[in-house]
Amino acid sequence: MKVSVIGCGYLGAVHAACMAELGHEVVGIDVDEKKIELLAQGKSPFHEPDLPALLDKHTHSGRLRFSTDFADISDARVHFIGVGTPQLDDSGSADLSYVRSAVDSILPHVQSGRTIIVGKSTVPVGTAQSLEQQIVDAGGILIWNPEFLRESFAVEDTLRPDRLVYGLSDDETRARISVQVLDEVYSPIISAGTPRLVMNYATSELVKVSANSFLAVKISYINAMAEVCEATGADVKRLAEAIGMDDRIGRKFLRAGIGFGGGCLPKDIRAFKARTEELGLPSLNFLADIDAINERRRYRVVEMCEEELGDLTGKRLAILGAAFKPNSDDMRNSPALAISDELAARGAHIVITDPEAGPILAATTDRFEVAASAEEAMTGAEATLLLTEWKQFSSLDPSEVAALPAHRLIIDGRNVLDPKQWRAAGWTYRGMGRP
Ligand code: UGA
Repeated sequence: MKVSVIGCGYLGAVHAACMAELGHEVVGIDVDEKKIELLAQGKSPFHEPDLPALLDKHTHSGRLRFSTDFADISDARVHFIGVGTPQLDDSGSADLSYVRSAVDSILPHVQSGRTIIVGKSTVPVGTAQSLEQQIVDAGGILIWNPEFLRESFAVEDTLRPDRLVYGLSDDETRARISVQVLDEVYSPIISAGTPRLVMNYATSELVKVSANSFLAVKISYINAMAEVCEATGADVKRLAEAIGMDDRIGRKFLRAGIGFGGGCLPKDIRAFKARTEELGLPSLNFLADIDAINERRRYRVVEMCEEELGDLTGKRLAILGAAFKPNSDDMRNSPALAISDELAARGAHIVITDPEAGPILAATTDRFEVAASAEEAMTGAEATLLLTEWKQFSSLDPSEVAALPAHRLIIDGRNVLDPKQWRAAGWTYRGMGRP
């Protein structure tokens, strides 16, 4: 099938490549010319495992093209909208201008009775309903199909999702046609046995934001437990293991540390809360606490540095990790960067390293010194802070790096190091919610 994907960021570029992998003829559209130029050469503009191989394969097979010109979508039957919905302002609301402008740009290319527009962006509940009429007036059909991919597993999650969610029009004919067409698009995924759930627009929009909020709740819950552990001498890692064995609770997303970041969870909980306030509901007031716990854990690390080192002015601190999670170069709302900025604001000299985000930082900021490796960053450091759990950091041998720093002080912001091993090698070890 001929399909277009509007927006070639972390969601859209992956979706475009995966739709080509499913056998479709795809054109990806973005306003960013540099990004499109790279993608058209089969290169990924960001670090995402498995994406370069797919881009290379399908830009060569001819099934995948990229363009900045909406004229190139005219023969597509299905248009996916994968543009961003960033946080608008202090109210926390989502900025829908990119979604609206994507719809406006698609409308002139709608073929009456044939075109399906598929919303994938994360939007406040009520958005699809508010967009439907103008699409119907142009002869098109709208279906909402939220995306649940995780960065760093994006290709895998797109090709083998744990479920597909379709949000349908209240009009039965339009709903039926859109399901038929999207089933055809996703036919290999559906044939593999993936559950496909149909519901109305509002429910599908809520599935996405309530899933992300629930994940944020789990992380902040365990981080709140970490605070209690710190005050009582308990160990949050053992606590998480023990409660996680109850499969009603589950072990996943109970990793205590410096909290969640990225382009999704932080903005999504704020937008969700803002939306319910617009609806006059107090139901999600607790998300303010979830947000506050998350922010607090970042500053706990700064306090720990001061507890160990006193005044930070002029102190050289090695920061291992800049991305919001490993195997990604995404630094949007990264806890590692927020902590680095706060330490720098207190006068510390920050030497930061990250296998993928490091070179980007080096090219775009002079706020920090950027080192090429953990060893280089740690040389002469008064403290080492592990803030993104890249394998090359979590597997550091404390004896091998013991001679590098000025002080053997390690702060493990992700609780991935073995305290016994580090202490045995002469280090002062501080973890999050661990004695
Ligand atoms: C998240 C959701 O997991 C995806 O399902 C969703 O599709 C995506 O947002 C989205 O809305 O597009 P992502 O932002 O890629 O995916 O990252 P996660 O793997 O969810 O991690 C988010 C943050 O939580 C990271 O900073 C991670 O370090 C942190 N985290 C995660 C913890 O601090 N503890 C945990 O136990 C798990």
